[in-house]
Order: sequence, then C-alpha cells, then structure tokens
Amino acid sequence: MRWKKLASLCTAAAVLLSLAACASRETAPSPTPAATLTPAPTATPLSERVLVVVFSPAGEEAEGAWSETGSPAVLAGQIAAKLGAEVYELRAAGGGYPAAWEERTEILLREQEDKARPAIGGTLPRLDDYDAVFIGAPVWNGDWPMILYTFFEGADLAGKKLVPFCTHEGEGMSELDKKLALACPYSTVEKGLAIQGEIVRDDPDRAERTVNRWLAGLGY
Ligand SMILES: Cc1cc2nc3c(=O)[nH]c(=O)nc-3n(C[C@H](O)[C@H](O)[C@H](O)COP(=O)(O)O)c2cc1C
Repeated sequence: MRWKKLASLCTAAAVLLSLAACASRETAPSPTPAATLTPAPTATPLSERVLVVVFSPAGEEAEGAWSETGSPAVLAGQIAAKLGAEVYELRAAGGGYPAAWEERTEILLREQEDKARPAIGGTLPRLDDYDAVFIGAPVWNGDWPMILYTFFEGADLAGKKLVPFCTHEGEGMSELDKKLALACPYSTVEKGLAIQGEIVRDDPDRAERTVNRWLAGLGY
C-alpha cells in the first residue's frame, strides 16, 4: 500500500531528524495505563447528551483521489443525524495539515516520532454539557493522528462515556480503542467502529447502515 511504503521511507528520515533534534525537544508525558475497555454496551438513557468530535482533514486520498471533507466527517454526520447530536470538528491551529499525501505523511510521521501534541485551533466545546463523546479520525500509521492526543489530554473527559470511530484503508481499528482507554483512564470506552474510507466515499449508504447497526448494538 502506498501509505505503507512512504511510511517506512519517512520513518528512516524521521529517526535521523529526531536524533539531531532530541536534545531540546519537549515531549508530553506518557498516559497512565489504567483503563480497560468495557466488554458490553451500557444502557443509554434517552436523556444522554451526546457530542461527536471528529478530526477529518480534507486532502488527497489513496490512489490520488480527492476528499473535500475526509471520510471520518461523513461518519460523524451520520452518527449525529441518528442521535440528534452536535458535531465539533477538531482542527489543527495554523492552517492544519497540507493536502498533498506525501507532505502530510512526512509531517505526521515526525509528529509520531516526537510524540508531539499539535495545537488545536479555536476553542474546545464545553464538555460539561455532555455525557457521551463520540471521537473519530482516520487511522494514520496505525494510530490516532497526534492532535487527538492533544484533545484526550487537554479536554476534561473524566467520567464520560467515550465511543471511538475511525476510517482506515485496510488495517481496521488498529487498537485505537485501547489507545483511547490508555489516554483517558478515568473515562469508559465503548466498542468502537472502523470502516474502510473507500466504502465511506464510494457507498455512503452502506456505511450508514453499518453505523446504524453499530449504534443499535451500543443501545442507541
Ligand atoms: C499518512 C497516512 C497514513 C495512513 N496510515 C494508515 C494505517 O496505518 N492503516 C490504515 O488502514 N490506513 C492508513 N491510512 C489510510 C487512511 O486511514 C484513510 O485514507 C482514511 O481513513 C480515509 O479517510 P480520508 O477520507 O479522510 O482520507 C493512512 C493514510 C495516510 C494519509
């Protein structure tokens, strides 16, 4: 796969770069590995207040196709429509990521290598107003985009129900649910959803049926 080949080239470059720069670099503390994933869906009171947070930059897709919104935003819209929830789109400060695949890959690999916490643009929503937060993003190099860790660590998610969802191009959930639970040890993490970006782009109705089945399985 294209992102994989590029990833290995960029990883080698990133190692060299990080050796040169690590003396002065600040890294964020590692999250405490305490949380566990809930095995079964919990009851969903009708009064539950739900927010859908999504990171979904527009840009070049697999095989050079173009996406105006990114696939995770499509899923966020479907979830929000079904639950009558609000959507908050997480955006990187300062213009965000370049749309071109190779430039974007280079940046995100460096961010992973550095354990960076890229700044979020704009103001975060008042999380006190919500009981459950759906959190979605594309899988990037087997992980959440690093800006999601900025959100996990910077937003007060303690005591909330968190529901991860992601798009990918073949490797599925890639343990994003477990990584979320590790980053947010005082939250409850529900069973997540992973859908291939290509399905979301080419057949959004099929994606929506999958979303609805998953929500039903969670008790929504
Ligand atoms: C830099 C980069 C890294 C990626 N890493 C993975 C990966 O590790 N596993 C995977 O299945 N897909 C990976 N993909 C594919 C994206 O997850 C896929 O393009 C995305 O989920 C579809 O959403 P989009 O429409 O917003 O691009 C990667 C894509 C990019 C650009």
